Amino acid sequence: MKKLVIEGKRSLKGEVHISGAKNSVVALIPASILTRGKCVIKNVPDISDVRTLISMMKELGSKITFDKEILTIDNSEVKPKRINEEYASKIRASYYFMGSLLGRYHHAEMSFPGGCVIGSRPIDFHINSFKKMGAHIEEKLDGFVMDVDVFKGIDIFFDFPSVGATINVMIASVLAKGTTRIVNAAREPEIENVADFLNSMGAHIKGAGGGTITIEGVEELGDGEVEVIPDRIEAGTYLIIGSLLGTDFKVTGVVEEHLISLISKLKDAGVPVKVTGKTIRVSRPKHLKPVNIKTTVYPGFPTDLGQPMSTFLTQCEGMSLFEETIYENRLRHIPHLNNMGADIKAFDKSAIINGKTDLVGRKVKATDLRAGASMLVAGMIADGTTIIYNIEHLLRGYERIVSKLNNVGANIELIDE
Ligand code: UD1
Repeated sequence: MKKLVIEGKRSLKGEVHISGAKNSVVALIPASILTRGKCVIKNVPDISDVRTLISMMKELGSKITFDKEILTIDNSEVKPKRINEEYASKIRASYYFMGSLLGRYHHAEMSFPGGCVIGSRPIDFHINSFKKMGAHIEEKLDGFVMDVDVFKGIDIFFDFPSVGATINVMIASVLAKGTTRIVNAAREPEIENVADFLNSMGAHIKGAGGGTITIEGVEELGDGEVEVIPDRIEAGTYLIIGSLLGTDFKVTGVVEEHLISLISKLKDAGVPVKVTGKTIRVSRPKHLKPVNIKTTVYPGFPTDLGQPMSTFLTQCEGMSLFEETIYENRLRHIPHLNNMGADIKAFDKSAIINGKTDLVGRKVKATDLRAGASMLVAGMIADGTTIIYNIEHLLRGYERIVSKLNNVGANIELIDE
């Protein structure tokens, strides 16, 4: 069991460099299975989700090495073995193996994908799309068995622009017969990153990043190369921290366009934000004004930043409204924030946050990955010592978070008991 011990109220100065995006790399690694050629993935973050995926790939027969942020992959010997529960339950993105194994081997077997418990998180869009493309899918007590004779390119329409389903259908369509059109596709930047990787192997994907993606099936793929885009959620978390504790605090290596919703809200709250190329500078203003946050799909305010942002709102002077529109269980961290001194009334998927409240250090729990980020921000602005348990969740998504923050003046210790 790992825990974080945080001494709060340290002012922060300096630079935090942003790592590659978790939500891109967790799709890029399984997507590589589509080719027998060699793949190189650059700017890979060393987070536990990546380590788990490397183990899964090795289990399937991949020759994969991870050195200095570069993954080198040779999948020529991969076999479509069953992905067992030990791995599948750890990481939700294991569902991308369905698309890639079905695409290349026409057979996939796996336990149900796990991940953060932030809602019911069905995968019916994925399953129904594969079925419409011609797959036979048997749902057993311990997972799925999937087979397909010929994957057929067709029109797929999503009721909701799901990130996972968009990427998974895109992966599965690359080697399909004919043309697939994904309509009402998700537009998150990670989708374009995965499409760029597949196109570098020889896929024909157009429109990724927009609402309609067209994939013309090809017979075979060759070598592939890609650089993982900067993690906009990691960057956003540090910008929130810098806005609460920073004096001349810089976040470097970011894509401003990916962060416009957050930057705009921070400015509305009165935070001085200055963007110069790939660097964003923020500092703590004397007073923070309340702002309303409604999470939604990209380019709206990201659900993954909702929880850390809710901690920010406790420091705004007045009433802020917070509304989550993607998941049902994104407010499980609120009792912990209230326990630290916040004044938050939580309803079903929304909350009224009254500020400013002085937070005090307490023993709290990271109930999921981004709840962990919320608690971290709270601990850093609180008086005294905060201990966050279940910190494994946080480490799944943030590379070297303790050293990155301690380098700019924080006082955080990671304890492995
Ligand atoms: C991805 C991200 C996650 C982020 C989320 C929304 C990864 C590994 N994770 O998750 O960090 O919070 O996007 O930006 O990239 N839905 C269905 N049926 C489906 C699929 C989704 O009903 O088959 C619903 C979900 O329950 C949810 C909504 O659609 O309410 C969005 O889910 P989706 O975009 O698919 O999220 P994930 O891909 O799981």
